[in-house]
Amino acid sequence: MIPWRALVALVVAVLSLTGASAGVSGLPAAPRRGVVATVNPVATEAGLQALRDGGNAVDAAIACALTLGVVDGHNSGIGGGCFMTLRLADGRLITLDGRETAPAAATRDMFLREGKADPRLSQDGALSVGIPGEFATLAYASTNHGRLPMARLLEAAARVAESGFRLDRHYVGRLRETRSGLALFPGSEAIFLKGLPATPSAGDLLRQPDLAWSYRQMASGGVAWFYRGDFARRTAEWMQSHGGVVEAADFARYEVVSRDPVRGTYRGHQIVSFPPPSSGGVHVVEILNLLERFDLASMGDGSAEFAHVVAEAMKLAFADRARWLGDPDFARVPRGLLSKEYAAGLARRIRLDRASVVAAAGSPPGADRDWFTREMGRHTTHFSTADTEGNWVACTASLNTSFGSKVVVPGTGILLNNHMDDFSAQPGVPNFFGLVGAEANAIEARKRPLSSMSPTLVLRDGRPILSVGAAGGPTIISQTVLAILRTIDFGKPPLEALAAPRLHHQWKPDTLHVERAWGEAVISGLRRRGHSVSVDASIGAAQAVGRDASGRWSAAADPRGEGAAGAW
Ligand code: GLY
Repeated sequence: MIPWRALVALVVAVLSLTGASAGVSGLPAAPRRGVVATVNPVATEAGLQALRDGGNAVDAAIACALTLGVVDGHNSGIGGGCFMTLRLADGRLITLDGRETAPAAATRDMFLREGKADPRLSQDGALSVGIPGEFATLAYASTNHGRLPMARLLEAAARVAESGFRLDRHYVGRLRETRSGLALFPGSEAIFLKGLPATPSAGDLLRQPDLAWSYRQMASGGVAWFYRGDFARRTAEWMQSHGGVVEAADFARYEVVSRDPVRGTYRGHQIVSFPPPSSGGVHVVEILNLLERFDLASMGDGSAEFAHVVAEAMKLAFADRARWLGDPDFARVPRGLLSKEYAAGLARRIRLDRASVVAAAGSPPGADRDWFTREMGRHTTHFSTADTEGNWVACTASLNTSFGSKVVVPGTGILLNNHMDDFSAQPGVPNFFGLVGAEANAIEARKRPLSSMSPTLVLRDGRPILSVGAAGGPTIISQTVLAILRTIDFGKPPLEALAAPRLHHQWKPDTLHVERAWGEAVISGLRRRGHSVSVDASIGAAQAVGRDASGRWSAAADPRGEGAAGAW
């Protein structure tokens, strides 16, 4: 079993016009203000409450993010980062980069011991922590695009942290897997181990008074408290006395970056997704460009031929990811990866009767001159919101692996990420997710580690029809592509699009992961074509909201999990 598969966070979904509900199929008529889908019913309800209070889709997304940091804190929170893709009511398309940055004292070889990368250092404890960007991003989105005071949304989430929430099965599973790591850090042990029965079960109440306190400090002190005040100071002191390199100045230097979205087209639709330092948008578009060369609709969803072609396209794109992708402020990431002509050349390597051997990355046009620039498990969580005014949000947030670095600086209640593991610690050495990288994603001071998070919007004639994204390391890209194919090529509404069987190929290792739900005939068809197939119970956790051509709204949380979608 590979680690990300065991841990991918999930959810479910459906809509009712009065609130959040889970596990039932259904579509709303016309919501009064908007729709919300997240991995957790409490977070979905927080988003709906923001809509009831007169907020827009951006406020709803902020409410979801803050509440997920309480009830789904092993996946995401203000100690981590996020990417937000927005379509505003006036038609503007914006991507906000709240990815963590490496501390100024980070060095290329910081995770090497006796010449070898030591994953314990990049995955647990002080050195694994990047400077968190989620709070800065939420605050930026609130100030510039929201309607409700952020303090009000923080207070609502603080109340959930204070009064507590009931663990679901998924949370309990994560706690069990991470127990020994959490026990290493007294601040985390006090909350997640001592604050619960020795053998926690679904239904146990978890209270987080320190997190409530921090949220209230953020409500009164704003980003200054977090980035230039008490929190930055306390965290830096803890880091320096526990072998870390984070300094208070790293927090003060943090900035949210508003970047140009990645834009592509697929069969007459516009695809708007996240640019580097995410690999998500680039490879969602690259895979769609490759697949546009094939008549998927006549192959049929659920056929071995369809699954094979999609897997081949993923393999080619992930080879490019390993070679070319990194933080565009540091690495030269070719914009040619998005070119239709480049995809047409690559697509000629795909044979319908057998799996290809992809020895290396391709050579996109303009690789020597035309780069992305600033101008232009189930880990992680994705949520989508939209409102009737025309604001649409796709947001993916993460601490990286379960409970991130496992570190809570005592008294703060804030779990810190381990996104330093998303750098390439050594060329060719896989990270937690088995991903290899090259120079473009080597560690450098203040650089942002490469991500797969793919918060994506799909538009038809300028009108949004889908907001989608996923959790689960590199499978995020595959899940997002599949959801788009199911929507566009097969005309499925969001819940069906998310429910359909998934597959994932990331070039290295040369293994095609497929959900068992594809069935024996497809799985043997893939093996006959030469794929090395691993059959998994489930892959990933995606959420989506949509609006079809007749104006009918829908929202869906992943039916593999325990989340919820709703409308108000
Ligand atoms: N933490 C997973 C990612 O950013 O891809």
